[in-house]
Order: sequence, then C-alpha cells, then structure tokens
Amino acid sequence: MRTSTDTLPLLALRGEIVHFIDDPIAYGTDACVHFPDGLLLVRDGHVLDCGPAAELEPSLPVDARRVDCSGKLILPGFIDTHTHCAQTEIIASHSEQLTTWLEKYAWPAEARHADPAYAATEAGFFCDQLLRHGTTTAMAFTTVHPVCTDALFEAARARRMRMIAGKVLMDRNCPESLRDTQTEGDAQSRALIEKWHGRERLAYAVTPRFAPTSTEEQMSLAGRLFCEVPGLYLQTHLAEQRAEVAWAMWLYPGARSYLDIYEWFHQLGERSVFAHCIWLDDEDRHRMAIRGASMSFCPSSNLFLGSGLFDLGRARDFGLRVGLGSDVGAGTSFSMLQTLSEAHKVLQLTEQTLTAEAGFYLATLGGARALHLDAYIGNFLPGREADFIVLDPHCTPLIEARMSRATTLAERLFALMMLGDDRCVAATYVLGEPAFQAL
Ligand code: GUN
Ligand code: ZN
Repeated sequence: MRTSTDTLPLLALRGEIVHFIDDPIAYGTDACVHFPDGLLLVRDGHVLDCGPAAELEPSLPVDARRVDCSGKLILPGFIDTHTHCAQTEIIASHSEQLTTWLEKYAWPAEARHADPAYAATEAGFFCDQLLRHGTTTAMAFTTVHPVCTDALFEAARARRMRMIAGKVLMDRNCPESLRDTQTEGDAQSRALIEKWHGRERLAYAVTPRFAPTSTEEQMSLAGRLFCEVPGLYLQTHLAEQRAEVAWAMWLYPGARSYLDIYEWFHQLGERSVFAHCIWLDDEDRHRMAIRGASMSFCPSSNLFLGSGLFDLGRARDFGLRVGLGSDVGAGTSFSMLQTLSEAHKVLQLTEQTLTAEAGFYLATLGGARALHLDAYIGNFLPGREADFIVLDPHCTPLIEARMSRATTLAERLFALMMLGDDRCVAATYVLGEPAFQAL
C-alpha cells in the first residue's frame, strides 16, 4: 500500500512533442521546441524532463507508467484568457450588437445563476467543456452573485484546474436583479478573496464588468481593492465596439479615452487583463505597456458581434502581453483551435498574418505570460506544472486527408488550427493526471 509520503511512479508519455520557450515572432525558430519522437516525463504532477525518446528512454525506471501517444501530438494545455462561465447556455444565440445581445441573452442567463444548484451544474459543465476542448487554465467572469463564483471555484478545484475568476461588479445600467451596491459589491468581493484567492490553483480577479455598468464610486472601490491585496488580478472589457466607447465617454466626460477611465480608477496595472482592446489609440497602448497590463484577443466573439478587428501587430509594437480569449458566450467556441482559426481570419483582414507557431504560442505560453503564470504553466520546462494535451491529427477523415499532404510541422499545426476542435483532443491532463479522455 502506498503512503502519503511515497511519490507516484514516473509518468512517461511518448509521442510527438511541441512547446514554446519564447515568442517565435520575437525570438525566431528556436522558440519552438519540437521532438518528433519525444518523451515527456512527469513526476508528482510536474514536468521532470522532456526530450528525444532515444536519449531519455534508456534511463527510464522499470516501474515508469508508460503512455503510448505515437502518431499524436503532445502540447501544453491551452490557456483561455477571457471567458464567461455563466454564458455557456447562450452560446450561438442569434447575433446582435453588444448591448442588445447583453439584454436579450447574457443578462437573462446570468440572472438564472442566482440559484446555487443551477450555478453549480453550469459551473461543472463549463469546466468539463474547457477540459474536453484542451483548455486547462482559464480567466473567467462569473455573475454578480457570490454563489456563482463559489460554484466556479469549487468546480475548478474538484478538477484541480488553474482558474482565475471573480464576481461581477455592476451597480448601474443593467437589470435590477443583477445589480449590486457599492458596499455589497466590495464586501462580497472581499469575502470571496478571503475564501478563494491563492487557495491551491485558484486566484481572484476583481471584476468590474465594464465602465458603463459601474458608478464612479464602485469603480473607485474596485481600484482600491485591486491595489490593496497582493497578487490579485483585475479583469474587465475595454473598447470592444464603437458605440460602447461612445457610451463610456459620455458617462465619464472628463476622460481622455475609454482606457483612461480604468487608469483614473487605479485599475490599470500588472495583472489587469482587458478583453477586446479593439478601438484604442497608440497613447492607450503606450499606457497599457508602461503599466504592464495585458490584452485578451477574442477573435470569434469580435467577428460574431461585429465588433471590429484586433490589431495584434500594433500590440506587439508596444511590447504588450497578449493572450487568446474564447469569450464564450459571445465567442462561438470553447476550442482554442477554432479561436486561432478566427484569429487568422481577423489578421488576414488587416493585412497581417498568424503563423501556426505564433498561434500555438499565443494559446499556450503567450496566454501564460498574459496571466503572469509563465513560471508555472505554458510549456514543458523542468518544474512546470504538468498540464498538457494529446492531440490526434487523424481524428476526422478530412483532417487525416489534409495531414497526409502536409510535409512540415508548421503545415500540420496550421491545418490543425484551421480544421481542429474538440474532436482532436484525445486527452487532457491536469497536474499529470488525465482529466478528460476521448472514448
Ligand atoms: N461587455 C460587457 N459585458 C460583456 C459580455 O458579457 N460579453 C462581451 N462580449 N462584452 C461585454
Ligand atoms: Zn467578455
């Protein structure tokens, strides 16, 4: 019998391994580490080593747990830097502009999460969807109800996932049933921070929904809270649609720009993650860069709501941290592969390009950097947490046919990001243990 002080036998997965040690655009081809026949060694939920099978195989202990992934790709788990756990049920509801979409679909769905039993069922389903799509870490909005935040943290904890989440702060311009007050919002956030922040793999994000739905008093309290507690995140929406920017500027007439509202209320800093960031100017990008804030690029949502085209090249010019976001339920898929496919199309429309390497970097190490988690996740350097996925490039006849004509890794990765989705995910591992396995 095993005692709690025993370590588990070494886990050794053999297959084609791909991961990134840096940004391939800035660092060149050496940023992508590729072992066509590789071994990923995992001990106690962490990466022990990773390299060519021919080198590592001879020294494997006899009791190693071997997993044969030949013909498949092993990659770090995907990182979704912006999503909504209470909007799963309204994904793919007929598209409108942002405000009507919120009123017709998002807010009624969020209101249903006042019921703890419903919130728990939905949170479990949300986490299971993330895992079956290969996403092992997410940054998520819950709803205004603390029970919904409890439900998400509990569901993530039960699955041992990394999750950054927070209760929505919203005290105006929304339905009465979804409104908190300044004191309630602040007290509830503090209680949730006390309960969840820094517990196991969980972290809290102060979550003002966006400037139009918070009063100046609430924005002020949110900024104060964000600055007060070490390691806290802040997540919000920024410059998604032109009408939304005009609305924010009308509500905060003294501001230079939409971003300026967040900066004024001390919400712009390292660990602030802003979703969308489409309608910005270079002064905004400069302010975000010097403050160390991150952007979440949500291409499927931006196309679905007709919001606009994110300028990845300009974000890069300013050295900004950028991750990829599904933004479910305005986003149309949980799959980071599908989200990359949409990212490619957005960039094509702005005469930019997304190589397969740049795409997979964005969905893994890029996301980890945007969330300041790259010391823990995002690649297979020794000591990293062993969150990874096994992708099957033969999962459908079409993908199989395309793969048979692909000659380079870049070509195969590109085909996967254009054609792939959850059908490609053969398994998802969290801390070295299977959390999802396709039948
Ligand atoms: N802006 C404010 N709230 C939301 C939301 O729930 N989804 C999106 N896409 N944008 C928002
Ligand atoms: Zn969103």
